[in-house]
Amino acid sequence: MQITLNSPLDMHLHLRDGEMLKLVAPLSAKYFSWALVMPNLSPSIKTKEDIIAYKTRILEATKWEQFIPYMSVFFQKNLNYEILKELKNEILVVKMYPDGVTTNSSWGVKSIDLWEIGHIFEAMQKLEIPLSIHGETNDFILDREKNFLPTYELLASTYPKLKIIMEHITNKESISLLKKYDNLFATITLHHLSITLDDVIGWMLCPHNFCKPIAKTESDRQALLALALEADEKIMFWSDSAPHPKEKKESWNGSAGVFTAPIILPMLVELFEKHNKLENLEKFISKNAQKIYGIQAVKKEIILEKKDFLIPDMYGNVVPFFAGKIISWSVKE
Ligand code: NCD
Ligand code: ZN
Repeated sequence: MQITLNSPLDMHLHLRDGEMLKLVAPLSAKYFSWALVMPNLSPSIKTKEDIIAYKTRILEATKWEQFIPYMSVFFQKNLNYEILKELKNEILVVKMYPDGVTTNSSWGVKSIDLWEIGHIFEAMQKLEIPLSIHGETNDFILDREKNFLPTYELLASTYPKLKIIMEHITNKESISLLKKYDNLFATITLHHLSITLDDVIGWMLCPHNFCKPIAKTESDRQALLALALEADEKIMFWSDSAPHPKEKKESWNGSAGVFTAPIILPMLVELFEKHNKLENLEKFISKNAQKIYGIQAVKKEIILEKKDFLIPDMYGNVVPFFAGKIISWSVKE
């Protein structure tokens, strides 16, 4: 048995830089038609020059594949209409990190005070540049996403024409808010469809399942799964594949981030097949995002076959999600 996926897109990908970029970028480029690359390098991607130079490095690392990296810029208070107009052709979104909530976010916004930064959202609305947000606060870990929801609501109601992407949602409360505003869209990762908090700390401590936002309860997972399987039009897949070297994950102060890039397609096919929803997979992984961002993906066909795939223990110095497990689908090389 085989299935063909047309133009899979990864709308939130961490490619890093240097040697790590060279290791991980080809693994995404092989399976995806394009990806939206996150700007949380250290230092972050802030200017037009940063964006162009980083994009060039990504293209160099993926030159053997047909793959388009779309870029994002790190939200900062000095953005304004003129700067955004200059950046518009280089980026797909402005990416906002609240200060300190995840990897390399310490240059993020400290508070979302519309008196101070409202003009930036107004400019984005006018220029039709979507705002993509890692929506978490610095509160108790299980409340972080929930406590950010009023901020999404404030932004969605104040700027009704601004497209706002609620990144990697993980709980039922986020799903309810998503449905309330036409200008809110959301993304779901493979790992949040696959694991709960128990898989991180419930039995043995598993640093390779540790990410931000942290996986939540089984009923949250079920709610996300229902939305993904129906390929609701306000939902897009994105991996949030976030590689860290093994020693940085398996350590005191282990880094947050799950590396899924090379196993996403087989795992998603397995998941959608298990629930008899394979017909919706292309919407979830490609068509919905094209509609939301108003772009057309380059044609790229990926064929998957029903054949066991043993997930490697390592890719270079990075441990992938579900390392050592066997899944029932493989990409036909
Ligand atoms: C990401 C990373 O490592 O860059 N980590 C994560 O846990 N998801 C950052 C992010 O997208 O939050
Ligand atoms: Zn994030």
